[in-house]
Amino acid sequence: MQRTKVAIVGMGTVGSGVARLLLDHGDRTARHAGRVLWLEKAVVRDLRKPRTADLPAGVLTDDLQQVLRDPEIKVAAHLVGGLEPARTIMLELLHAGKDIVTANKALLAQHGAELFDVARKLGRSIAFEASVAGGVPIITNISQCLSANQILSLEGILNGTSNFIVTQMENQGMAYDQAVRLAQENGYAEADPTMDVDGSDAAQKLAILAHLAFGARAHWEDIPRIGIDQLDPLDLQFARHLGYRIKLLASAHLGNTGLELHVAPTLVRAGTPLAEVQDAFNAIRVIGDAVGPVFFHGLGAGQMPTASAVVADLIDTAVGRCKLTFQTLELFSLVNPPRVHLRDADDMPGRYYLRMHVDDTPGVLAKVTGALGRHAVSIASVIQHEPDQHAGKRSVPLVVMTHEASEGAASAAAEEIQTFAQTHGKLIRLRVKA
Ligand code: NAP
Ligand code: HSE
Repeated sequence: MQRTKVAIVGMGTVGSGVARLLLDHGDRTARHAGRVLWLEKAVVRDLRKPRTADLPAGVLTDDLQQVLRDPEIKVAAHLVGGLEPARTIMLELLHAGKDIVTANKALLAQHGAELFDVARKLGRSIAFEASVAGGVPIITNISQCLSANQILSLEGILNGTSNFIVTQMENQGMAYDQAVRLAQENGYAEADPTMDVDGSDAAQKLAILAHLAFGARAHWEDIPRIGIDQLDPLDLQFARHLGYRIKLLASAHLGNTGLELHVAPTLVRAGTPLAEVQDAFNAIRVIGDAVGPVFFHGLGAGQMPTASAVVADLIDTAVGRCKLTFQTLELFSLVNPPRVHLRDADDMPGRYYLRMHVDDTPGVLAKVTGALGRHAVSIASVIQHEPDQHAGKRSVPLVVMTHEASEGAASAAAEEIQTFAQTHGKLIRLRVKA
């Protein structure tokens, strides 16, 4: 049977999973590719580190040149995280004539235009299914299977680490720091988990999906984003009491005046599919004008789910399917103008959950509701429990659920309430999914 020689650059969590699939299930990949995907080299930074995949002798190296100089290696799985040296390595691989498969969304979201331009000029391809939602095949579905549609909206849980942490806090009462450590031990988190918990990783993935689904040219840093790093367990409790769960939602909605994009912890009605996504699972609800709503769900982080997407891309690249798709893909195109414009964040409509600590004294509720009224924010419900007599405190948590209001109005009302002498600590404002 014909052989296509493959290299893996980066043998950490994902790279080791890819090696295991290629080595342990070569018959499976050969059947789908019509040729053997032969693991020729695996490049790492530190040869002394223990690896979770058993590689044949001579495969592991710390010398990238062994891949660059071998013309028989046609495809490289680029599984180094971060921006540098990941960008330089990808450019070197492209210039050496390799087609690329990558899981690095940070690199694509930051340098995608440059890398795609170089790949197009050199007649090479970059496949990136694993870069968004790990094992869930969302890239192929949006760019190929749903291409007859105008996508109207896309809402998703795109960061497995954040979802894992919130689920552990909610279901097990686990402390935030312990949940972060467990996500790292399970191989879900980035090398620096800050990007996971501050909403950056989800914004990078949303930027890629928004390019594909809407022809938007949003840079991930321009997407308004809030992470779970500021989430208070008290809000998880109040949300549950109100019949919701809190999820880090990445949202894109197409309206008459443009595309709205944001990433934020959001109250999602318990019992609905997105609210029930647990642990490191990801989910994306897409609405197309022809197909209607479609729901994707699966593991968005972790070794084997991500390796599943990488190996599928390796097969598609070896067969030649990726090259065809890559040529017609508008992603990071410098030629095609954007098909939609981004809406001003202040105009975006939404419902809000506001939680504040206020003095339990006459007139305070009237002041709070007055501020909301002045900014045309209508109240849907209010919760204030009696103060704990034993704690001897005079301030109590006050939760207000609003009807739909613009982001600008809700934010202005919250800022005004925050200035009251009777308001203590930080006012928390979370979105509520419609
Ligand atoms: P990781 O465990 O940190 O592995 C990174 C690998 O890159 C390590 O093997 C490291 O070598 C190697 N490396 C770093 N610098 C190198 C260099 N200059 N030359 C050669 N190799 C170098 O990361 P990971 O979790 O596998 O993630 C890899 C990529 O996949 C990232 O972009 C990540 O965002 C993405 N991703 C990860 C997941 C997941 O669940 N983990 C899911 C989807 C996407 P040493 O081992 O010798 O240090
Ligand atoms: N750190 C990422 C996450 C890996 O937790 O979702 C998958 O991209």
